[in-house]
Amino acid sequence: MKPVTIAIIGAGKRGEAYAAYAKRHPEELRVVAVAEPRALLRKRMADEHCIPPDACFESYEDLACHGKLADMVAICTQDRLHLAPVEALAPKGYAILLEKPLSPDPEECERIVECVKRHGCLFAVCHVLLYTDLTRELHSLLRKGAIGEIVSVQHLEPVGWWHQAHSFVRGNWRNEEESSFMLLAKSCHDIDWLRHIVGRPCRRVSSFGSLRHFKRSEKPAGASDRCWTCPDEVESGCPYSAKRIYHGNFGRDKVADYLNDIITEGVGTWEAVEAALKSGPYGRCVYECDNDVVDHQTVMLEYEGPVTATFTMTAFTPSMHRTARIFGTRGFIETDFVRIKVYDFLTEKEEVFDTRVASGASTAASGHGGGDYHLMKAFVSAVATGDASGLWSGPDATLESHRTVFAAEESRKSGKVVDLPLGAKVLDRRLHANTGRQDAGAAATVLH
Ligand SMILES: NC(=O)c1ccc[n+]([C@@H]2O[C@H](COP(=O)([O-])OP(=O)(O)OC[C@H]3O[C@@H](n4cnc5c(N)ncnc54)[C@H](O)[C@@H]3O)[C@@H](O)[C@H]2O)c1
Repeated sequence: MKPVTIAIIGAGKRGEAYAAYAKRHPEELRVVAVAEPRALLRKRMADEHCIPPDACFESYEDLACHGKLADMVAICTQDRLHLAPVEALAPKGYAILLEKPLSPDPEECERIVECVKRHGCLFAVCHVLLYTDLTRELHSLLRKGAIGEIVSVQHLEPVGWWHQAHSFVRGNWRNEEESSFMLLAKSCHDIDWLRHIVGRPCRRVSSFGSLRHFKRSEKPAGASDRCWTCPDEVESGCPYSAKRIYHGNFGRDKVADYLNDIITEGVGTWEAVEAALKSGPYGRCVYECDNDVVDHQTVMLEYEGPVTATFTMTAFTPSMHRTARIFGTRGFIETDFVRIKVYDFLTEKEEVFDTRVASGASTAASGHGGGDYHLMKAFVSAVATGDASGLWSGPDATLESHRTVFAAEESRKSGKVVDLPLGAKVLDRRLHANTGRQDAGAAATVLH
């Protein structure tokens, strides 16, 4: 079979991650076009995948001026630039893999789903958490009744102190107006994961959370506005010091390389890191940024059943995996997103499933616990065969969990419990009138 061809829209970090699948599996996928305004990143992608100059574009608009150049596109532009490329590329007949979130604007979310359905596009959102070995194993155990009926779930997303500082205080997702609110930017994965695990529609939510720490009033006495010029006695006592996170870790490991590549926009040298810290956004004191997204948030959810769930996202953790506990009528599951411990009330025995895969293709350390890899595998296979039953993040499932995220944020802001709007059901029916087959699997999950 001929490899599926892909055009990468936005050759930043996520575009790079998905294109990497083609390097690993050239027999399955080939990158044949790129649209990226940053020349260095565009050239890097073109060199890496031998893309001819006439298939390298400065923007998705330029690419969309041509006929269909590939079987599929991966749209990996920033959060507020998702609707426009979808509306430009769907009519061309591309299968569309879209980065999360659909959009920070609820109306745009509905428009994206309506657009891909109208044009009959194969479509999935990059909710990579659904595609990990861990989730697959856990989902299968639950559906086999390993703990009876699910009664409640407790889920933690430990963002981690340096990740919060990098992405949500100094970086791209720090400011709601420029990108998204925190629950959408970081935790739409988790609310979507809960939907998948619980397997029932969410009916109401409440939420609390705030920006507790990364603000001017918390700034240590004597600190300056940039870590580079901060007095040694203050800087050396600050866990969030940019000198420590970027410069201090230069060349130490893959994570440090990844972060330094971002702050230097692909240059990645010691000198470029120093320059970025002296004058770029990532050198700012974490207490002196234009950030406004929360650093801790909890959500309570009630699903049909009734099943209840609590979710906590917090910046204030070490770098670690998510954790969850699932309470059932006949047993209890605890997972650190690597192992799954299943305790059976009848036998009073515990069984442990270790989902690490020795091949390295999908270890927890590689690309979202293997989620990036398995998402690409599932999407590429769906494009090649026309069988989309392996896709768990089709338009309807994703829209449903995005609605829950918007409702939770409304609750956080209003202080009220928010029912999931009855109106949404009506809208669903209209949107579902044209349902593509890729949501068949997801819909089955939601309904049983
Ligand atoms: N699925 C996940 O787990 C996950 C993880 C991180 C980020 N994301 C999401 O992925 C998206 C991209 O994140 P990223 O970290 O790769 O960001 P990034 O800034 O590294 O990449 C975005 C790229 O889009 C390019 N771009 C801007 N305008 C463009 C245009 N008109 N045409 C083509 N390209 C254009 C930018 O130059 C940039 O290189 C965001 O929506 C983000 O929320 C998802």
